[in-house]
Amino acid sequence: MRKILVTGGAGFIGSAVVRHIIENTQDEVINLDKLTYAGNLESLADVAESSRYHFVKLDICDRAGLDEVFAQYKPDAVMHLAAESHVDRSITGPAEFINTNIVGTYTLLEAARHYWNGLEDGAKAAFRFHHISTDEVYGDLHGTDDLFTETTPYAPSSPYSASKASSDHLVRAWQRTYGLPTLITNCSNNYGPYHFPEKLIPLVILNALEGKPLPIYGQGDQIRDWLYVEDHARALYEVVTRGEVGETYNIGGHNEKQNIEVVKTICTILDELAPSAHSPYAGLITHVADRPGHDVRYAIDAAKIERELGWKPVETFESGIRKTVQWYLANQEWVNNVKSGEYQNWLNAHYQ
Ligand SMILES: NC(=O)c1ccc[n+]([C@@H]2O[C@H](COP(=O)([O-])OP(=O)(O)OC[C@H]3O[C@@H](n4cnc5c(N)ncnc54)[C@H](O)[C@@H]3O)[C@@H](O)[C@H]2O)c1
Repeated sequence: MRKILVTGGAGFIGSAVVRHIIENTQDEVINLDKLTYAGNLESLADVAESSRYHFVKLDICDRAGLDEVFAQYKPDAVMHLAAESHVDRSITGPAEFINTNIVGTYTLLEAARHYWNGLEDGAKAAFRFHHISTDEVYGDLHGTDDLFTETTPYAPSSPYSASKASSDHLVRAWQRTYGLPTLITNCSNNYGPYHFPEKLIPLVILNALEGKPLPIYGQGDQIRDWLYVEDHARALYEVVTRGEVGETYNIGGHNEKQNIEVVKTICTILDELAPSAHSPYAGLITHVADRPGHDVRYAIDAAKIERELGWKPVETFESGIRKTVQWYLANQEWVNNVKSGEYQNWLNAHYQ
């Protein structure tokens, strides 16, 4: 039984990690989250009553607060997911990305190192700091067959991916310089339940149901490798518990799709499950000006984690996207609560 400190546990992937750990293991979770616009405790309603779940509202840039959390809970591992995560927001306002993703990761590394230095030998050797990152640190691919591997050189394109690349470098340096037992994972685009509706898949589902335009950047021919969030949560738990210290693992779903294909698939499923005056929903597709610096293609080679840790995704894109649409149809209350004024302001400012 471990105690795992999860940062960003109220976010999309973090909440899936917390639910996975509470529902499938005997481990205890301390969810440390600042609750920005992207953090939502309602995503944890299924596990919040567990005696193995604790929540601390804190900014990862708050060093004194972090020291208190480490001293109070004495975690065996940290899974670091707290981040600003939306590329479009990083283009309009990069400062928060520099602050949370770089300064925050640095502050968390220092607090973890201070705590780790004070542990006795056995606990010190067993401690893990797992940094969750993105395949966007590798830039983009222009060929059709090449894949990102763990040794692909870093070439980030956006303020978001540059800030994540910086944090990866800090984590590697803390391992090399101070011996902090770190692990890094870089993963492809996630989708699934509890996804904040500023991102493509939930945005398209919810706009379609309201009969609003389905905005597609440019021609929609950008390719992403889609990973169902629960497959990702399972992979992350394998890495933090069984991965080799100092190693990096790429995680992907083997599901390369053009954005336009993704949107059309969602429309077809909605035509079947939720026919309305707005269907066929593909009629709502609207092309908008492309994102500056938009990456062309991402695709992950996940052979290392499959070979070394025996992890494989369970969901195909077809099964995962159907589950996702069904979840949004069945969870209108979560959706309505998430559509706060702040979210509306973002949509209005970004797509008008
Ligand atoms: N979503 C994806 O497709 C994807 C893909 C690859 C990697 N990642 C990485 O996985 C991680 C989680 O992504 P996500 O999609 O769940 O993000 P998210 O935006 O849904 O959630 C981020 C969480 O971090 C919290 N947070 C933000 N700033 C904080 C701060 N300063 N202190 C404490 N908490 C703070 C937010 O409140 C929120 O709960 C991120 O590090 C992201 O870079 C995401």
